[in-house]
Amino acid sequence: MVKPGAKVLELGGGTGVQSFFAAQKAQKVFCVERNPELVYAARSFLAKNINGDKVEVIQADALHYLPPEPVDVVICEMLHTGLLREKQMPVIDSFKKRYLERFGGPLPIFVPEASIQAIQPIQQNFHFEGFYAPTILFQDPCSTQERSKNLGDPEVFQWLSYAEPFSQTCSWDGQIIMAENGQFNALRLITKNVLAINPATSSTVDWHTQYIILPLSSPLSVSEGEYISIRFNYQGGAPLNALTDSLEVCRTSDMKHRSVERLSLA
Ligand SMILES: C[S@@+](CC[C@H](N)C(=O)[O-])C[C@H]1O[C@@H](n2cnc3c(N)ncnc32)[C@H](O)[C@@H]1O
Repeated sequence: MVKPGAKVLELGGGTGVQSFFAAQKAQKVFCVERNPELVYAARSFLAKNINGDKVEVIQADALHYLPPEPVDVVICEMLHTGLLREKQMPVIDSFKKRYLERFGGPLPIFVPEASIQAIQPIQQNFHFEGFYAPTILFQDPCSTQERSKNLGDPEVFQWLSYAEPFSQTCSWDGQIIMAENGQFNALRLITKNVLAINPATSSTVDWHTQYIILPLSSPLSVSEGEYISIRFNYQGGAPLNALTDSLEVCRTSDMKHRSVERLSLA
């Protein structure tokens, strides 16, 4: 993504590790971090690493910062599953508006380029050595999940391309068909980030954040072929409970489902 001689901005640079990688090819990297302790850490780590001198660490709020000159690439990894908690969406949205006002187009390339979000109905074992605790859990996306049974396929509710205009809202109002009988007691929240798209090979470099398992307050006994209606609505960067507070899950009645099908066929 970073071509030789490029100018790069990292928003939310943390320890500076990604700015370090960018600096191996870039001519100049502006690394913006709000937390003064991390600014100190990033500066001292970069000083010990090759090409670290190409990185300027700036203590600032990424919601207001603009680089002194146009940049080719913006790295922003303020990512949390669901695009909750961290300010990826508001920071990039604000950056784009201010950047276009100051420098005109084109916009730089964003890393990641996109985030794709999905939910999946599951049956989760919330018993821990005999203790029943239906609580929010995190799962490694690369591991087999012995304690989860998938009851249906993941449903994509958001495809967000950072270079395109996007709404600050993450929401869904839809139905999922159950592929298995079971106790539907949790939703798996999936966020896949597309770090780079390679049109030449039609391939992407993907990175999943950890899955979040959200327990349902009222589990449902479900049968294969049954439809479940799910609805939620929250703002990107909101606390986790913004999703759970807005979450509505219920059995879709046969009647309602048939009328929805008729509407979509018309
Ligand atoms: C998930 S970390 C990523 C850090 C970095 N990419 C790394 O790999 O070390 C997000 C970083 O963004 C910083 N951050 C959060 N909000 C910020 C803001 N409004 N302005 C600047 N930095 C911010 C946090 O302090 C944190 O270091």
